[in-house]
Amino acid sequence: MDQSKWNAEFAGRFFRHEREMKWLYAELYHNDQRAWDYFVDMLFSAYQARSEELKEMDRLRDGDPEWYRQRSLMGYQLYVKSFAGTIRGVEKKLDYLSGLGVTYLHLMPLLESPEGRSDGGYAVSDYRKVQEELGTMEDLEHLAGECRERGMSLCLDFVMNHTSEDHEWARRARDGDRAYQSRYFFYDGWDIPNAYEQTMPQVFPTTAPGNFTWCPEAGKVVMTTFYSYQWDLNYANPVVFNDMTDNMLFLCNRGIDIIRLDAVPYIWKALGTNCRNLKQVYSLVRIMRMACEIVCPAVLLLGEVVMDPVWVTPYFGTQDRPGCHMLYNVTTMCTLWHTVATTDVRLLRHQMSRVFSLPRQNTFLNYIRCHDDIGWGLDYGFLSCFNWQEVPHKRYLNDYFTGKWPGSLSRGELYNDDPRLGDARLCGTAASLCGVTGAKEAGDEAAVEGALTLDRMLHAFIFGLSGLPVIYYGDEIAAENDDSYHDDPAKKADSRYLHRGDMDWEKAKLHKKARSIEGKMFSAIRRMQEIRNEYDVFSPDAVLDLYETRSDRVFGMTRAYGDRTLVALYNFGRENETVVLKNAGKYLDLSTDREKELKKVRLLPGDYIWLLTREDWLEAPAPRSDASTDAVKP
Ligand code: GLC
Repeated sequence: MDQSKWNAEFAGRFFRHEREMKWLYAELYHNDQRAWDYFVDMLFSAYQARSEELKEMDRLRDGDPEWYRQRSLMGYQLYVKSFAGTIRGVEKKLDYLSGLGVTYLHLMPLLESPEGRSDGGYAVSDYRKVQEELGTMEDLEHLAGECRERGMSLCLDFVMNHTSEDHEWARRARDGDRAYQSRYFFYDGWDIPNAYEQTMPQVFPTTAPGNFTWCPEAGKVVMTTFYSYQWDLNYANPVVFNDMTDNMLFLCNRGIDIIRLDAVPYIWKALGTNCRNLKQVYSLVRIMRMACEIVCPAVLLLGEVVMDPVWVTPYFGTQDRPGCHMLYNVTTMCTLWHTVATTDVRLLRHQMSRVFSLPRQNTFLNYIRCHDDIGWGLDYGFLSCFNWQEVPHKRYLNDYFTGKWPGSLSRGELYNDDPRLGDARLCGTAASLCGVTGAKEAGDEAAVEGALTLDRMLHAFIFGLSGLPVIYYGDEIAAENDDSYHDDPAKKADSRYLHRGDMDWEKAKLHKKARSIEGKMFSAIRRMQEIRNEYDVFSPDAVLDLYETRSDRVFGMTRAYGDRTLVALYNFGRENETVVLKNAGKYLDLSTDREKELKKVRLLPGDYIWLLTREDWLEAPAPRSDASTDAVKP
């Protein structure tokens, strides 16, 4: 370790973390001093390689470390190819995105990845090269610069659990190089792999069964938790951690603001465990956080932890020793869809009360759809209180969203149906799951409107929470499923392509037409973000609470900040609902911008309302009668 060249800035940041970082590193890597020295030198090289412009950004954000909690942040996630063909193409669409209010852009994996064996880019063969058809690293840097100019942050996946089987390390391992084999999990025979299988669940039980693959060239078995061409990296080998952190910092130095730690719970393996969320994973994340704080404090870590809530929140770390800056609010996402199918808000209430009780610093990324399937990771313990059992309930949800249930207009498809466990997951775009496609098929215009209302409400729900709302590309124009993937040999086995279609720019053009479907969705979302920016009750420091609606079909919550309170009501029922407000008084309806004297509120099926009020606008609570339901008029 050569400290002679260190400047005061690097040294200051390094020494702030040295004790803890070294202690964690030594524990993971058995006091391997050489590995540690290499790691520290690598950090300094990465710091030196960082541009002055990015270092300025580091200083700025270092002085305002909570910048990402601001409500002005609104996200959008897209595939470069499907959205605009190339990275340069995306740059040309930045005005469109700014027009929607986007200030955070997540580009799906774009690094080199073998055609047909890429899992949508999640099998990287070179962490320093962009897929040729999408452009170059220079294009990416250019886009990052352009985004910076506009105050837009750029997020990129860091696929760290595995490399592609075509990665140089994998090729060398296949050729028999033991040093490179030790970067993965290689076994001479099936005894140990079989022992692992006893306790290791399967990620893709249908599309990629088993967690190991025979590698004929090496004459050995290799661990492949995801697809057989995605070889799991062995993070117990410090060389892997050092080189992968180096790769991550290389991407940060290209101007990436947010690193999405893909499949992070899986990165440490141990025989006899489920190989998920092991305690070493938390140490690795913590070290990566410190590495960023030393080299590039402007950069955030977003953890992709698609797990039960008990496993998710620990990735935030503690206030003194934070891990990820942001995590996906996956349970809220799937609970929302459960609530759509059941029209029963009790589980959602339970889930939200848990979210509301977490420290406000815990920043979630809120979404209703992303590039992946919807896995039904619901709180079945809670549901069992109402005698709803996991397997039949999942079957109901899947039947409902694939349109098999009478009256359902949803048009989803199953994903990784495992009849043994009754564990299928679900694919489809938000609009098609909400019923837009089914309603169009039925030629029922009122039903199309109803489906759009529901789609809008689900978006409003995530905009009404604290944290970062992220729109999945196309959802702002109610894009429907893309059935054409069935005809593509490289895609047809993976139903996630149902919601990964090409952006239809002819349709998107209609977003300016107020009466078109596209225009209605687009303007509704843009308005939600404007409202968030405009009113302080959307502050990340607002206190969130449940609001009693006396109806299991209407979810109610409040956001209190200063002397203002927002009452947000969401009707998941299929009928009109009237909610008697806790206090009669004056309210400002944020969607129409009108002040009203209200005692109760009537909501259409699938509709919502955001009402702003103040203590001195309200009367004392009146004795209450129950919410009433009246039949929907045809
Ligand atoms: C993440 C991605 C998913 C991918 C997997 C394997 O879960 O979101 O799309 O299949 O990682 O890399």
